[in-house]
Amino acid sequence: MMTSALSYARQNSERFLSELREVLAIPSISTDPDHEPDMQRAADWLSAQLRWLGMDNVQVMPTAGHPVVYGEWLGAGESAPTVMLYGHYDVQPPDPLELWVSPPFDPQVRGDYLYGRGSADMKGQVLACLKAVESIVRTDRLPVNIKWLIEGEEEIGSEHLDAFIREHKELLACDFCLNADAGILAADEPSITAGLRGLAYYELRVHGPSKDLHSGLYGGIVHNPAQALAELIAGMHDAKGRVTLPGFYDKVRRLSKKERDGFARLPLKNKLYLEQTGVPALWGESNFTPPERLGARPTLEVNGLLSGFTGPGSKTVLPAWAMAKISCRLVPDQTEAETSKQMRAYLKKHAPKDIRWDLQYLHGAGAALTSTDNPGVRAMRAAMKEVWGKEPHFLREGGSIGVVVQLQRHLKVDSVLSGFALPDCDAHSPNEKLHLPTWYRGIETLVRFFYHLH
Ligand code: BES
Ligand code: MN
Repeated sequence: MMTSALSYARQNSERFLSELREVLAIPSISTDPDHEPDMQRAADWLSAQLRWLGMDNVQVMPTAGHPVVYGEWLGAGESAPTVMLYGHYDVQPPDPLELWVSPPFDPQVRGDYLYGRGSADMKGQVLACLKAVESIVRTDRLPVNIKWLIEGEEEIGSEHLDAFIREHKELLACDFCLNADAGILAADEPSITAGLRGLAYYELRVHGPSKDLHSGLYGGIVHNPAQALAELIAGMHDAKGRVTLPGFYDKVRRLSKKERDGFARLPLKNKLYLEQTGVPALWGESNFTPPERLGARPTLEVNGLLSGFTGPGSKTVLPAWAMAKISCRLVPDQTEAETSKQMRAYLKKHAPKDIRWDLQYLHGAGAALTSTDNPGVRAMRAAMKEVWGKEPHFLREGGSIGVVVQLQRHLKVDSVLSGFALPDCDAHSPNEKLHLPTWYRGIETLVRFFYHLH
């Protein structure tokens, strides 16, 4: 029967792609209030798919933020496992728009790639799950029970999903979760992710004079808030690239010899990172390798800066305020709450008396480690081995996905982290792209995964 499902997937691949283009055309940008109607449209599109697949109890469920799409099929019976299929329908803002070769929400195929915001992260992955399930239910019966949990706030820290999971424990009860939001190492290197970094995201504002001032009349007697902010930010790292927030590394777990050997075995050369990023040299803590720094070391990043006059031409002005968006990637056993205390302690100690500052915590996600040996992981390993002809690597990724820790905490359920986005997919960047040959392999892998589970 698996053969019928696989040939159904092959025969319908063109239509799968055109459906993916449909949902990619919806600009479901969760962080932008102007796009709230698009959030609803994307959720409705997905719930229609679930109904069309014959899922039961399909609902677009409200939260204090963007809605959750739910659906289930429990026809495999109580003796079969119940798998949660997690996804997110929200995407990151597409700016800077002028750098896109084709418009972000007018998805287009060029060569082996489909270009569009959300193509890789992660509407393409959600569609891979939907189309794998479709291939099975149209030709056979699903060997396992499934529950869909597709949220609209992953890209803003899954803030309201936490309460949603806590309030719907029974509805969401399952044996494990398949989370296709983590990707694989390379088109010819399948992988399963065993850890994700957490996140704590802040907006820091520095206020100086009550209004923008003439820089000639006041420059020299008023501390420029842009400069004060730059000084504060510069002090957040030492010369060795370590973060200086007090106590930042206290809870960070040391890497064992075995863990470091694991990182060293990954097919990740420095040259690869230089190619992917376009930087002339890498940077960071020199006593850790790049894969270790990405997977198992915490960081502090400036995501954006704003102050004063930035238009064409010049204006001699001393700005009234300056703002930075700053986030920390966290690793076990750091927490968002402790990081916030450390950030405040740093600012209290180092902010000069001639400015006022205001720190706002925007959102975050817990750092997660997941098991590398359970029935879900074994089924994914077996499926990947059949499709790629080799065993998947296990690795810890630098990105964050809020739901993983939320499920561990509230449902005591672990996640199988994989997916079929490639590291060079330009997620969050202009010209985000999905490698279509890998996407089709992904659908085939997921079909096999379900058959390996029963
Ligand atoms: N798919 C990514 C997370 C990811 C990226 C996992 C690479 C593994 C490898 C996800 O959509 C994402 O970007 N998450 C945000 C979450 C944050 C806003 C809490 C992130 O990591 O910035
Ligand atoms: Mn993302």
